[in-house]
Amino acid sequence: MIRLKNEKQINGIRESCKLLSAMYRELIPLVKPGVQTIEIDQWVQKWIKKMEAKPVFLGYCPGGKRHDKVPYPAAICISINEEVIHGIPSKRRIKEGDLVSLDCGINLGGFISDQAVSIEAGKVSDEIKKLNRITNECLYKGIEAAKCGDRLLQISRAVEKHAKAEGYGIVEEFCGHGVGFALHEDPHVPNYPHGANPKMSNGWVIAIEPMINLGTGKVETLEDEWTIITADGKISAHWEHTIAFFGGKTEILTDPLEDLVF
Ligand code: MF3
Ligand code: CO
Repeated sequence: MIRLKNEKQINGIRESCKLLSAMYRELIPLVKPGVQTIEIDQWVQKWIKKMEAKPVFLGYCPGGKRHDKVPYPAAICISINEEVIHGIPSKRRIKEGDLVSLDCGINLGGFISDQAVSIEAGKVSDEIKKLNRITNECLYKGIEAAKCGDRLLQISRAVEKHAKAEGYGIVEEFCGHGVGFALHEDPHVPNYPHGANPKMSNGWVIAIEPMINLGTGKVETLEDEWTIITADGKISAHWEHTIAFFGGKTEILTDPLEDLVF
């Protein structure tokens, strides 16, 4: 069931999104070679607390607590190189040439936001630079296709087309989603045309999040039960915005962060 949001609720979600992007504006310059990923998580937890918001990923259990999967133990996901998503912050240090994907969500006054960026640590290879640029473009191609009255899988087609043109692998096992009242709501927003294809309409709030790989789109899960890696060990990039449909228009609720990355 797709939960529609009214104007007031979209205003609340927008505030949550703006706060999350403001956090990234301060955080991104700190993500550099030598930094431990756990230090980033500690910084994020403090920042969110100071703003009187809550981290939504910390303690998150997909499908609720009755499932036996361990709750996600941090406020932010930090996925380096062949790690696609859900990397757990640790004592690992970022090094020159790494592609570091950050994914975070906050709860501000009951409204949930979700945004991801991939950051180039120091100087990265041209191959990684291009992957990151194209993945970011995939996100905006998807957003351009997100229009009231059109079908949802238009987004998926647009993302897929742009990634495929470069021969990149598209992660099929994970996708974007409805967001706003909870972190993961209906509908699924896949990065290739697959599954339900409802008409996009006013009141929708969704997260679009292409996960694009230099090699295969196939992925595996590490023993920590969270970290998703590429099956061939090649690099993966991830970008995400939360967007809303209102008054016949599509609005990107999270702020662009490209100027800090490219
Ligand atoms: N941010 C991810 C998404 O975009 C979900 C993170 S799951 C968590 O859907 F456990 F880390 F919270
Ligand atoms: Co998301």
